Amino acid sequence: MLMPHQTVRQIPIAQPTVDYTPRLHVAIISDGNGRWATSKGLPRSAGHRAGAETVRRVVTAAPRMGIHTLTLFALSSANWKRPDVEVQGILRLLHEYLLTETTHCIDEGVRLSIIGRRDRLPATLRQAVADSEAATARGTRLHLRLAVDYSAREAIYHAACRFYKVTELSPESFSTVLAEVLRGGSTEVDLLIRTGGEQRLSDFLLWECAFAEFVFLQKRWPDFTAEDLEAAVMEFNRRERTRGALPDAIAG
Ligand code: IPE
Ligand code: MG
Repeated sequence: MLMPHQTVRQIPIAQPTVDYTPRLHVAIISDGNGRWATSKGLPRSAGHRAGAETVRRVVTAAPRMGIHTLTLFALSSANWKRPDVEVQGILRLLHEYLLTETTHCIDEGVRLSIIGRRDRLPATLRQAVADSEAATARGTRLHLRLAVDYSAREAIYHAACRFYKVTELSPESFSTVLAEVLRGGSTEVDLLIRTGGEQRLSDFLLWECAFAEFVFLQKRWPDFTAEDLEAAVMEFNRRERTRGALPDAIAG
């Protein structure tokens, strides 16, 4: 116990050495769960479970890196082609995640949204999604968007089908319609990370990634750490984004 004359030694708090670009939208194609499990002699479901742990780690670490929106590809519409037992297992994990993480999200100021189709999800999961979204709606530190039964091409197609009703036609008003289709909003991606070694977009955020920077990693998603996320953000900060204009050095 401290006596009145004693003082607590000040522990220096490490100052961040990196000047992060504030307010980034980072999207991640979290690939490699199955291969991670197979390489360890485990069933693929163990890879998906380990992948859910990575999601928890990354969500906790993201806000201090200046990330305001984090979109993760949890289940692609193309994944329905997989054996039913695997897809149902992933949906069960998502349900479990919502049940265990909603309180944590509220405490951490995380707003959680699902983007993608909802009509093919089990009714109980749909309800859990709606409950989590409502409960976390006031979170302002991080917008966590989980893409579930998501296909960018399909979302763009549905937005296009609705667009004829819009009187003021512009790329911005199209983005607004797309955001309505997705329900969890639609904002421009700054940095897209794909784990697991493949180098493709796999029908993820096609409209939103028009000017995104891409970082491809060999590492499989269950092995991805907060340090890997930080390294990707630092790599992003080193790149010059011109959006088709001339680099500053040449433009003068
Ligand atoms: C990514 O891991 C997670 C989902 C698509 C749900 P995979 O399941 O695609 O793992 P690999 O690519 O087979 O290793
Ligand atoms: Mg894969």
